[in-house]
Amino acid sequence: MSELIEVLTKDGSYSLRSVFFQENFHSLLGALEETKIKFTAPSDLQRFKGKSLDVLDICFGLGYNSASLYNELIKQKSYLNWYALEIDKKPLEYSLRKKAFKKLWAPKVKRIFDSLYQNDCFEDQFFNCKILWGDAREKINVIPADNRFDLIYLDGFSPQKCPQVWTIEFLSKVTQKLNPQGYLITYTSSAAVRKTLRNLGLKIFTIKPNFNSRTSWSQGTVAIAKFDKKKLKSNFNFDKLSVMEEEHLLTKASIPYRDQDLNSCAEDIIRQRLDEQLLSNLLSTKKWREKWGMTKLASKS
Ligand SMILES: C[S@@+](CC[C@H](N)C(=O)[O-])C[C@H]1O[C@@H](n2cnc3c(N)ncnc32)[C@H](O)[C@@H]1O
Repeated sequence: MSELIEVLTKDGSYSLRSVFFQENFHSLLGALEETKIKFTAPSDLQRFKGKSLDVLDICFGLGYNSASLYNELIKQKSYLNWYALEIDKKPLEYSLRKKAFKKLWAPKVKRIFDSLYQNDCFEDQFFNCKILWGDAREKINVIPADNRFDLIYLDGFSPQKCPQVWTIEFLSKVTQKLNPQGYLITYTSSAAVRKTLRNLGLKIFTIKPNFNSRTSWSQGTVAIAKFDKKKLKSNFNFDKLSVMEEEHLLTKASIPYRDQDLNSCAEDIIRQRLDEQLLSNLLSTKKWREKWGMTKLASKS
């Protein structure tokens, strides 16, 4: 599964390309930039200054999202209970070898990564971290049932390449692990994923594009089970969906990925969805794209 090719992205940070999934781990615009804009900024980490939080990182990969999280939490002396799910150890092996990657973070981040690689865990006064190696669909069941997360990062390859981690069945398990006011954060603005999260009862928000991104209309999605306007301070990184994004959810693109027994292969999940799209009376996605002069959806490559 893991033939990996090194990729230098435009912000000078390194990433990988998976030959098996035929996709990059990060946007070519910048691995570090992607992490900061799509995961760290929407996390609103200042809320947890000097306090404790629970985080689940699904599809840990090279570990950019968690390294950036650790970095911020170290500075603000937060207490972290952290789980990660990842099928392949090779990307972490790469991060640990790559000086340019390690230089991006506080020295403690390297100690944590070393320990995750060697012992699958790390513990000190502030952090308690465990990584579970294997298929996320299975390993999510190993997380103690009563563990609820304030932040869940979902960073799988795009739904078309790795539908296994974007199905109704998997997302249902994931969202059950979210604290009522916790944030599920992902880079995808896929209508299928957004519609599934909404159907699972979550409020969904769009991660606003930054000024530099002329081509993309969203940087991803934040889903919150119980969005309380009074309790949750407004977050400048995400907003309610635009009319254009709402209309996207009325098209055939919103037909979900399904994996009834959580063990289907990608091809079967894609085929079943295509069959469902063929029979559907929903609006054509092509028409929606034409109406809004649309560019392609954000994918990793
Ligand atoms: C886009 S990359 C993640 C990038 C990562 N978050 C980072 O910061 O470097 C997707 C990751 O998902 C992992 N993956 C693919 N299928 C998986 C599955 N079924 N369960 C767990 N991990 C999976 C791949 O091995 C890869 O590391």
